[in-house]
Amino acid sequence: MDAQRYFSRLSKYHGALKGLRRQKPPVFLYMPVPLIIAIDGPAASGKSTLGFRLAETLGYLYFDTGLMYRAITWLVLKRGMDVKNEAVVTQLAQEVPIEVSPPSLEDGRTCDVVVDGLDITWEIGKPEIDSNVSTVAAYPGVRTALSIQQRRIGKRGRVVMVGRDIGTIVLPEADLKIYLDASPEQRARRRYDEILSRGGKASYEEILAKVIQRDRIDSTRIVAPLKAAKDAIILDSDKLSADQVFEKAYDLCIN
Ligand code: CDP
Repeated sequence: MDAQRYFSRLSKYHGALKGLRRQKPPVFLYMPVPLIIAIDGPAASGKSTLGFRLAETLGYLYFDTGLMYRAITWLVLKRGMDVKNEAVVTQLAQEVPIEVSPPSLEDGRTCDVVVDGLDITWEIGKPEIDSNVSTVAAYPGVRTALSIQQRRIGKRGRVVMVGRDIGTIVLPEADLKIYLDASPEQRARRRYDEILSRGGKASYEEILAKVIQRDRIDSTRIVAPLKAAKDAIILDSDKLSADQVFEKAYDLCIN
């Protein structure tokens, strides 16, 4: 790379570099950091844990696109509509604005999700949403409506965007694409432990069945099916702790 291009690239990434933690060795300050980071993968593979931590470390916006599909699903159920009625669900996704913003409370949330003036951040993680969200997310009109909003935010850069189709459809130009995978059993085990640690009750078998069902719907739908982008780096988290996954992903950002 010639010097002029090098310095123009360096200044482009200047803002991004500000977010790097102080304790990291200064040599990183001369490395270009990816401005748009896409993390895709199946249900409960640890995308939000990784994405949130990566965004926090880099000083980037964290954007979990699954929350938008969950918010639409919540609205459909709250209004007593039929999840199977594609036309009605699509119209709702086109008309109702969903606000996803950085967390305003320190109660374990990674984002605030507001619809119709209501904070529904915790509501959308409930089992009835888990059971219906993949049906809603398979409707092409719903995907178009939400992807437009996601792309608009992602294109601004300094963002870690998490979902199923970020590296393939929403932001194919992402500078770094990670596909985070794990076996259904391991993912179900993590989700089960998470519910128990919050004082809830759950059945491992039921969670596993739901994870497998969502994987099937997400990867066989016609529009934007779940799959790794050709240029994605695949991380298999079956034998890695959350810390090890983070270290590997962070290395990819700075090397
Ligand atoms: O957190 P978890 O992995 O269980 O799911 P999520 O990321 O909250 O996403 C919920 C559902 O939304 C997924 O099962 C997909 O059906 C859908 N989704 C999608 O289709 N495309 C995205 N970019 C994000 C989520």
